[in-house]
Order: sequence, then structure tokens, then C-alpha cells
Amino acid sequence: MANLVRFGVSLEKELLDKLDALKKRKGYPTRSEVIRALVRQEEVKRQWQEGEEVVGAVTLVYDHHRRQLIDKLTDIQHHYGHCIIASQHIHIDHHNCLEIIALRGSPSQLQELADRLRAVKGIKHGALTMTTTGRQLV
Ligand code: NI
Repeated sequence: MANLVRFGVSLEKELLDKLDALKKRKGYPTRSEVIRALVRQEEVKRQWQEGEEVVGAVTLVYDHHRRQLIDKLTDIQHHYGHCIIASQHIHIDHHNCLEIIALRGSPSQLQELADRLRAVKGIKHGALTMTTTGRQLV
């Protein structure tokens, strides 16, 4: 870890209890690791809000028997082809498919693409995971 700096933190007892509960619940080894994770999370949020290049992933679950749904998903993905790095299709069971689509581009474009995919009729669940290319993150 580069340039490790120690500093003192003053917190109300209630907030410290919350920090420790978070540490336990999420399985972080130390309080420092909790604080690192929170700062990184805020940095990802800032990059998504301020229009820098970001990466993310959309996960979709749907019934593959609905052929129109698959055509629609394909149309949308071709329209936003420049934002799509890769996609993976997993046959979960007889009816259900899981699709994971990795994205790179401007936050507004990726949000728009994710919204359009999730809005396709018949999608059972759709989620966008927002992350970054790792620049400016330690
Ligand atoms: Ni499938």
C-alpha cells in the first residue's frame, strides 16, 4: 500500500458503534478497511455524477421463451454497441436466463442503456452495478 498515512478520527459513540456494526456485518478485517471502502464508494459515485468515463455491469433475468423480448434486447445492445465490452449468457434453468453485460462509457449513456434494457417488457429483474475504471482509486 503506497503512502500509508495514520490519522486520528473523532466520532460520536453512536457513529462508532455503527461503524463497528458495518465492519462486522460486511466482514471487513479492520475499521481502516471500512473507511477505505466508504471513501472508494463515494469516489465511484462522484465519477458517475461528474461525467468521467466509467465502467459497470447490467444483470438481467428473463424467460427465454419470450422471443420478442430477446429481439428487443438484441436491438438495444446493437444500438449501444460502442458502450458494450462483453456479455455473457447463462441458462439458469428450463425457463430463465441470466445475462451479464459489461459496459464502458459516459455515465449518462450507461445509465440510459441500463434503463432501456431494464424497461423491456418481460424482464424479471434488472440491475446496474456502477463502478469505475479504477483511475484515481487506491
Ligand atoms: Ni438462456
